[in-house]
Amino acid sequence: MIEASGLGKVYSNGTVALRDFNLRVDRNEMLFIRGQSGAGKTTLFKLMMGMESPSSGTLRVDDCVMGECGARSLRNLRRNMGVIFQDFRLIKGRTARENVELGMRVLGVSGAEVRRRAEEYLDRLGLADRVGSQVDSLSWGEQQRLVVARALSRRPQIILADEPTGNLDEELSTRVMDLLLAARDRGATVLVATHSPETLRQTPHRVITLSNGRLVGDVPADSGRGSHR
Ligand SMILES: Nc1ncnc2c1ncn2[C@@H]1O[C@H](COP(=O)(O)OP(=O)(O)OP(=O)(O)O)[C@@H](O)[C@H]1O
Ligand SMILES: [Mg+2]
Repeated sequence: MIEASGLGKVYSNGTVALRDFNLRVDRNEMLFIRGQSGAGKTTLFKLMMGMESPSSGTLRVDDCVMGECGARSLRNLRRNMGVIFQDFRLIKGRTARENVELGMRVLGVSGAEVRRRAEEYLDRLGLADRVGSQVDSLSWGEQQRLVVARALSRRPQIILADEPTGNLDEELSTRVMDLLLAARDRGATVLVATHSPETLRQTPHRVITLSNGRLVGDVPADSGRGSHR
């Protein structure tokens, strides 16, 4: 469960990225976050994963009160998270396979299972023939899919997907969205920041809107916006 109450974030240069932000996301919910560039979407994710601390208010993610949570609890929380970073954060000088495998190895997944899952997810994301390629040689869209494979192969309980389809064509975007939906169906809580009008038009899921660091819209799931998938 994720709960933000009066949450605010001011960066050290004085930029106010979130203000009086209130949100509750239940376990196993799927939620889309929209909002113009600079609205605060990535900041919200950084607070949820403990990369930044709240400046005011509170943010609880499962058992962790962010900013107060001890190192061990934070480590446990992150073990249960799969993050699709907007800026990828892939390990340079390593292959696609190594990047996906390292994400699972730190969780203690066994060697054979690590190899099996890496191949499965790379294949599902259309990267079967890029398995041995160095990250630096991959196209932008290939790197994006690799980040998705790295995050989802960990089978996380919480998925933070920051513009996961930003560099992909329609077919590949659908594939990524289907994998996120499958993760939700397996029990994960899934948050997706996106600009994609296509995704937002069709979704039967809850959509919140951020503007200038504030929550300005919250449309619940199944509100008759479009067809179910
Ligand atoms: N490390 C930082 N230091 C100072 N200001 C920051 C920092 N990171 C983000 N900001 C500012 O905080 C605001 C929110 O940024 P954020 O990255 O959360 O927006 P976003 O909604 O993810 O935008 P985009 O759609 O472009 O990814 C912006 O005004 C941005 O310039
Ligand atoms: Mg962002």
